[in-house]
Amino acid sequence: MSDIFSFDPKPNTAILLDNISIRYRLPSDSIRTFKEYMIRMLQGRIKHNSFWALKNINLEVKKGEIFGILGRNGAGKSTLLKVISKVLVPSEGRVWINGYISPLLQLGAGFHVELTGRENIYLNATLLGHSRSEIDDKLDDIIKFAEIGDFVEAPLRTYSSGMQARLGFAVASAWQPDILILDEVLAVGDAGFQEKCFERMTKFRDSGATVLMVSHTISQVRELCKRALWLNNGEIQSVGAVEDVCDAYQQSLTIH
Ligand SMILES: Nc1ncnc2c1ncn2[C@@H]1O[C@H](COP(=O)(O)OP(=O)(O)OP(=O)(O)O)[C@@H](O)[C@H]1O
Ligand SMILES: [Mg+2]
Repeated sequence: MSDIFSFDPKPNTAILLDNISIRYRLPSDSIRTFKEYMIRMLQGRIKHNSFWALKNINLEVKKGEIFGILGRNGAGKSTLLKVISKVLVPSEGRVWINGYISPLLQLGAGFHVELTGRENIYLNATLLGHSRSEIDDKLDDIIKFAEIGDFVEAPLRTYSSGMQARLGFAVASAWQPDILILDEVLAVGDAGFQEKCFERMTKFRDSGATVLMVSHTISQVRELCKRALWLNNGEIQSVGAVEDVCDAYQQSLTIH
């Protein structure tokens, strides 16, 4: 019974994570060919090491907040966003999400490099659940926001990282979601584009949406978020007011 009571979403809760853990399995020996892999699998000779990328994460994010996630490379930030976006099923624990999510995970996710910008807009927006006519209506806005100009008819492999990020953000934010998830998306955008993204994010927040952002730019997190989380080796090191979390994280980076 106590388990049920510990999982108690309030009306203004957007995301509730209850004791989430994620275990990845890594092969312990190097297997060079597919043939060798199949033979070993049939013989039951594939050994795995378990690796816990997230451990006992409890977190509540409210509606109408921009929430920052900080942590060193490999800390588990992207893994956490994948759990919230339901791309990964947690090994343990429960995820409760209130509303429609628009995830923008790592750069290029959901894109196809041989398709043009225009085709990728249709592909991505369809994956987000929009109909053809909804996309037709938003197409000009998306192209205008992304500022990719004539490249809209060129294959995605000809785009710079910043152009891909622009297109990704433009599609993911074309329709206001209840929860927008951004994994280091702003890092490769130039200052002008970042400013446009911030403007859109704060507009979403002011109308009650939740934005979850992972960033290595601590000043960005301080500027945009009220609350933040610091992940360290898959565990919550600290969560709370953005100034406190950023100060503690920043301090840890200077201690060797
Ligand atoms: N598919 C996978 N299989 C096995 N291990 C994985 C997998 N994906 C991630 N990991 C491991 O899980 C840990 C957390 O990875 P994650 O990508 O969540 O880190 P991160 O905090 O986003 O790092 P970065 O700042 O570099 O993006 C890392 O040690 C990584 O090697
Ligand atoms: Mg990451």
